Amino acid sequence: MKKIVILTGAGISAESGLGTFRDEGGLWSQHRIEDVATPEGFARDPALVQGFYNARRVQAAGARFNAAHAALARLQRDWSGDVVIVTQNVDGLHEAAGTRDVIHMHGELAGALCAACGHRWAAPAQMAPAEPCPACAVPAGRPDVVWFGEMPYHRDAILDHLSEADLFAAIGTSGNVYPAAGFVEEARRSGALTVELNLEPSAVVSSFEETRFGPASEVVPLWVAELLDRAS
Ligand code: OAD
Repeated sequence: MKKIVILTGAGISAESGLGTFRDEGGLWSQHRIEDVATPEGFARDPALVQGFYNARRVQAAGARFNAAHAALARLQRDWSGDVVIVTQNVDGLHEAAGTRDVIHMHGELAGALCAACGHRWAAPAQMAPAEPCPACAVPAGRPDVVWFGEMPYHRDAILDHLSEADLFAAIGTSGNVYPAAGFVEEARRSGALTVELNLEPSAVVSSFEETRFGPASEVVPLWVAELLDRAS
Protein backbone atom coordinates (compact mmCIF):
# COMPACT_ATOMS: atom_id res chain seq x y z
CA MET A 1 0.00 0.00 0.00
CA LYS A 2 1.59 3.28 -1.06
CA LYS A 3 -0.70 6.23 -1.57
CA ILE A 4 -3.09 7.43 1.11
CA VAL A 5 -5.74 10.09 0.44
CA ILE A 6 -7.59 11.52 3.44
CA LEU A 7 -10.69 13.71 3.40
CA THR A 8 -11.35 15.69 6.56
CA GLY A 9 -14.40 17.63 7.74
CA ALA A 10 -15.50 19.78 10.64
CA GLY A 11 -15.45 16.84 13.09
CA ILE A 12 -11.63 16.76 13.13
CA SER A 13 -11.57 20.34 14.47
CA ALA A 14 -14.48 19.91 16.92
CA GLU A 15 -12.18 19.08 19.83
CA SER A 16 -10.17 22.19 19.04
CA GLY A 17 -13.30 24.14 19.94
CA LEU A 18 -14.49 24.91 16.41
CA GLY A 19 -18.17 24.17 15.92
CA THR A 20 -19.36 21.69 13.32
CA PHE A 21 -22.24 22.49 10.95
CA ARG A 22 -24.88 19.82 11.36
CA ASP A 23 -24.43 18.47 14.88
CA GLU A 24 -26.87 19.65 17.54
CA GLY A 25 -26.15 23.33 18.19
CA GLY A 26 -23.99 23.42 15.04
CA LEU A 27 -23.47 26.48 12.83
CA TRP A 28 -26.35 25.62 10.51
CA SER A 29 -28.78 25.54 13.42
CA GLN A 30 -27.77 29.12 14.32
CA HIS A 31 -27.50 30.64 10.84
CA ARG A 32 -29.39 30.11 7.61
CA ILE A 33 -27.15 28.74 4.86
CA GLU A 34 -28.92 30.99 2.31
CA ASP A 35 -28.04 34.06 4.39
CA VAL A 36 -24.37 33.48 5.17
CA ALA A 37 -23.02 30.90 2.74
CA THR A 38 -24.31 31.77 -0.73
CA PRO A 39 -23.33 34.44 -3.29
CA GLU A 40 -26.93 35.70 -3.16
CA GLY A 41 -26.77 36.09 0.61
CA PHE A 42 -23.56 38.12 0.25
CA ALA A 43 -25.12 40.35 -2.42
CA ARG A 44 -28.13 40.96 -0.13
CA ASP A 45 -26.29 41.63 3.11
CA PRO A 46 -22.48 41.81 2.88
CA ALA A 47 -22.18 43.09 6.47
CA LEU A 48 -23.93 40.00 7.83
CA VAL A 49 -21.78 37.63 5.78
CA GLN A 50 -18.48 39.39 6.56
CA GLY A 51 -19.49 39.45 10.24
CA PHE A 52 -20.14 35.70 10.20
CA TYR A 53 -16.74 34.91 8.66
CA ASN A 54 -14.93 37.55 10.75
CA ALA A 55 -16.18 35.78 13.87
CA ARG A 56 -15.10 32.39 12.54
CA ARG A 57 -11.69 33.80 11.51
CA VAL A 58 -11.08 35.12 15.04
CA GLN A 59 -12.20 31.82 16.54
CA ALA A 60 -10.01 29.75 14.19
CA ALA A 61 -6.99 31.99 14.83
CA GLY A 62 -7.36 31.30 18.56
CA ALA A 63 -7.78 27.53 18.18
CA ARG A 64 -5.03 24.96 18.65
CA PHE A 65 -4.66 21.79 16.61
CA ASN A 66 -5.56 18.58 18.42
CA ALA A 67 -4.19 15.04 18.56
CA ALA A 68 -6.00 14.06 15.35
CA HIS A 69 -4.40 16.83 13.28
CA ALA A 70 -1.03 15.94 14.84
CA ALA A 71 -1.45 12.25 14.00
CA LEU A 72 -2.13 13.02 10.33
CA ALA A 73 0.98 15.23 10.20
CA ARG A 74 2.95 12.32 11.67
CA LEU A 75 1.48 9.94 9.09
CA GLN A 76 2.50 12.24 6.25
CA ARG A 77 6.01 12.56 7.69
CA ASP A 78 6.62 8.89 8.48
CA TRP A 79 4.72 7.01 5.74
CA SER A 80 6.97 5.76 2.96
CA GLY A 81 4.47 6.70 0.23
CA ASP A 82 2.38 9.77 -0.52
CA VAL A 83 -0.13 11.08 2.02
CA VAL A 84 -2.51 13.70 0.61
CA ILE A 85 -4.86 15.61 2.91
CA VAL A 86 -7.96 17.09 1.30
CA THR A 87 -9.99 19.17 3.71
CA GLN A 88 -13.41 20.77 3.60
CA ASN A 89 -12.35 22.87 6.58
CA VAL A 90 -11.55 26.54 6.21
CA ASP A 91 -9.41 26.65 9.37
CA GLY A 92 -5.62 26.25 9.20
CA LEU A 93 -5.25 23.56 11.85
CA HIS A 94 -3.75 20.88 9.57
CA GLU A 95 -0.97 23.29 8.61
CA ALA A 96 -0.54 24.36 12.24
CA ALA A 97 0.06 20.69 13.10
CA GLY A 98 2.74 20.45 10.39
CA THR A 99 0.88 18.88 7.45
CA ARG A 100 2.18 20.05 4.07
CA ASP A 101 0.37 20.73 0.78
CA VAL A 102 -3.14 20.57 2.28
CA ILE A 103 -5.81 20.81 -0.41
CA HIS A 104 -8.49 23.24 0.82
CA MET A 105 -11.42 22.32 -1.39
CA HIS A 106 -13.76 24.80 0.35
CA GLY A 107 -11.19 27.61 0.58
CA GLU A 108 -9.65 29.19 3.67
CA LEU A 109 -10.67 31.82 6.21
CA ALA A 110 -7.13 33.19 5.94
CA GLY A 111 -7.70 34.17 2.33
CA ALA A 112 -9.56 37.03 0.65
CA LEU A 113 -10.82 36.98 -2.92
CA CYS A 114 -11.90 39.85 -5.16
CA ALA A 115 -15.29 39.06 -6.67
CA ALA A 116 -14.57 41.62 -9.39
CA CYS A 117 -11.10 40.68 -10.69
CA GLY A 118 -10.29 37.32 -9.01
CA HIS A 119 -7.22 38.64 -7.16
CA ARG A 120 -6.37 36.75 -3.96
CA TRP A 121 -4.65 38.13 -0.86
CA ALA A 122 -4.24 37.42 2.86
CA ALA A 123 -7.49 38.33 4.60
CA PRO A 124 -7.31 40.91 7.38
CA ALA A 125 -8.67 39.62 10.70
CA GLN A 126 -11.79 41.72 10.12
CA MET A 127 -13.03 42.18 6.58
CA ALA A 128 -15.24 45.20 5.92
CA PRO A 129 -18.64 44.88 4.21
CA ALA A 130 -17.13 46.70 1.20
CA GLU A 131 -13.53 45.50 1.44
CA PRO A 132 -11.41 47.15 -1.29
CA CYS A 133 -9.34 44.88 -3.52
CA PRO A 134 -5.63 45.79 -3.33
CA ALA A 135 -5.25 45.00 -7.05
CA CYS A 136 -8.26 46.65 -8.74
CA ALA A 137 -9.57 48.86 -5.88
CA VAL A 138 -13.18 47.70 -6.43
CA PRO A 139 -14.83 47.20 -3.01
CA ALA A 140 -15.63 43.56 -3.84
CA GLY A 141 -13.43 41.69 -1.36
CA ARG A 142 -14.99 38.56 0.08
CA PRO A 143 -13.73 35.62 2.13
CA ASP A 144 -11.96 33.10 -0.11
CA VAL A 145 -14.33 30.33 0.91
CA VAL A 146 -16.58 28.25 -1.32
CA TRP A 147 -20.27 28.97 -0.87
CA PHE A 148 -23.26 26.82 -1.78
CA GLY A 149 -23.88 27.08 -5.50
CA GLU A 150 -20.15 27.58 -6.22
CA MET A 151 -17.64 25.05 -7.54
CA PRO A 152 -15.33 23.56 -4.92
CA TYR A 153 -11.64 24.20 -5.59
CA HIS A 154 -9.02 21.79 -6.95
CA ARG A 155 -11.49 19.26 -8.39
CA ASP A 156 -9.16 17.86 -11.03
CA ALA A 157 -6.20 17.49 -8.69
CA ILE A 158 -8.40 15.71 -6.13
CA LEU A 159 -9.84 13.31 -8.72
CA ASP A 160 -6.29 12.54 -9.90
CA HIS A 161 -5.21 11.75 -6.34
CA LEU A 162 -8.29 9.57 -5.78
CA SER A 163 -7.58 7.64 -8.97
CA GLU A 164 -4.13 6.76 -7.58
CA ALA A 165 -5.22 6.03 -4.00
CA ASP A 166 -4.50 2.68 -2.36
CA LEU A 167 -6.23 3.77 0.84
CA PHE A 168 -8.93 6.42 1.26
CA ALA A 169 -10.09 7.64 4.67
CA ALA A 170 -12.82 10.15 5.53
CA ILE A 171 -12.51 11.73 8.96
CA GLY A 172 -15.10 13.84 10.81
CA THR A 173 -17.42 14.54 7.91
CA SER A 174 -21.16 13.90 7.79
CA GLY A 175 -21.29 12.89 4.12
CA ASN A 176 -24.02 15.39 3.29
CA VAL A 177 -22.19 17.72 0.95
CA TYR A 178 -21.14 16.76 -2.56
CA PRO A 179 -18.77 16.36 -4.30
CA ALA A 180 -16.79 15.45 -1.13
CA ALA A 181 -19.39 12.88 -0.04
CA GLY A 182 -18.84 11.06 -3.35
CA PHE A 183 -15.07 10.72 -3.00
CA VAL A 184 -15.44 7.33 -1.32
CA GLU A 185 -17.08 5.96 -4.48
CA GLU A 186 -14.35 7.48 -6.67
CA ALA A 187 -11.71 5.87 -4.47
CA ARG A 188 -13.45 2.50 -4.60
CA ARG A 189 -13.54 2.65 -8.37
CA SER A 190 -9.76 2.99 -8.24
CA GLY A 191 -9.53 -0.11 -6.04
CA ALA A 192 -8.66 1.74 -2.82
CA LEU A 193 -9.45 0.35 0.60
CA THR A 194 -11.92 2.76 2.24
CA VAL A 195 -12.18 3.70 5.94
CA GLU A 196 -14.53 6.04 7.77
CA LEU A 197 -13.43 7.55 11.09
CA ASN A 198 -16.19 9.58 12.69
CA LEU A 199 -18.05 10.19 15.91
CA GLU A 200 -21.07 8.46 14.46
CA PRO A 201 -21.97 6.87 11.10
CA SER A 202 -22.12 9.38 8.26
CA ALA A 203 -24.81 9.56 5.57
CA VAL A 204 -22.56 7.50 3.27
CA VAL A 205 -21.22 5.01 5.83
CA SER A 206 -22.44 2.02 3.81
CA SER A 207 -19.92 2.88 1.08
CA PHE A 208 -16.95 2.25 3.38
CA GLU A 209 -15.34 -1.13 3.95
CA GLU A 210 -14.01 -0.27 7.40
CA THR A 211 -15.32 2.04 10.13
CA ARG A 212 -13.95 3.39 13.40
CA PHE A 213 -16.29 5.39 15.60
CA GLY A 214 -15.28 7.75 18.40
CA PRO A 215 -13.80 11.21 18.94
CA ALA A 216 -11.19 12.08 16.32
CA SER A 217 -8.56 12.84 18.97
CA GLU A 218 -8.79 9.18 20.05
CA VAL A 219 -9.55 7.15 16.93
CA VAL A 220 -7.22 8.96 14.51
CA PRO A 221 -3.97 8.61 16.52
CA LEU A 222 -4.75 4.90 17.11
CA TRP A 223 -5.44 4.30 13.41
CA VAL A 224 -2.26 6.12 12.37
CA ALA A 225 -0.18 4.16 14.87
CA GLU A 226 -1.61 0.90 13.49
CA LEU A 227 -0.87 1.89 9.89
CA LEU A 228 2.71 2.83 10.70
CA ASP A 229 3.25 -0.31 12.84
CA ARG A 230 1.90 -2.57 10.12
CA ALA A 231 4.20 -0.96 7.57
CA SER A 232 7.35 -1.20 9.66
P1 OAD B 1 -20.81 18.47 9.44
O1 OAD B 1 -21.13 19.42 10.55
O2 OAD B 1 -21.83 18.22 8.40
O3 OAD B 1 -20.41 17.06 10.05
C1 OAD B 1 -19.50 16.94 11.11
C2 OAD B 1 -19.25 15.48 11.34
O4 OAD B 1 -18.25 15.38 12.35
C3 OAD B 1 -20.46 14.69 11.83
O5 OAD B 1 -20.56 13.47 11.11
C4 OAD B 1 -20.15 14.42 13.32
O6 OAD B 1 -20.65 13.17 13.76
C5 OAD B 1 -18.64 14.41 13.30
N1 OAD B 1 -18.01 14.80 14.58
C6 OAD B 1 -18.45 15.68 15.50
N2 OAD B 1 -17.58 15.75 16.52
C7 OAD B 1 -16.58 14.89 16.24
C8 OAD B 1 -15.38 14.49 16.93
N3 OAD B 1 -15.03 15.00 18.10
N4 OAD B 1 -14.59 13.56 16.32
C9 OAD B 1 -14.93 13.02 15.12
N5 OAD B 1 -16.05 13.35 14.45
C10 OAD B 1 -16.86 14.27 15.00
O7 OAD B 1 -19.43 18.98 8.79
P2 OAD B 1 -18.79 18.60 7.38
O8 OAD B 1 -19.10 17.21 6.99
O9 OAD B 1 -17.36 19.02 7.42
O10 OAD B 1 -19.35 23.66 3.52
O11 OAD B 1 -19.57 19.59 6.44
C11 OAD B 1 -19.27 19.64 5.08
C12 OAD B 1 -19.49 21.02 4.53
O12 OAD B 1 -20.81 21.46 4.85
C13 OAD B 1 -18.61 22.09 5.14
O13 OAD B 1 -17.34 22.18 4.54
C14 OAD B 1 -19.40 23.34 4.92
C15 OAD B 1 -20.75 22.81 5.35
O14 OAD B 1 -21.85 23.46 4.86
C16 OAD B 1 -19.52 24.92 3.11
O15 OAD B 1 -19.67 25.86 3.88
C17 OAD B 1 -19.49 25.08 1.62
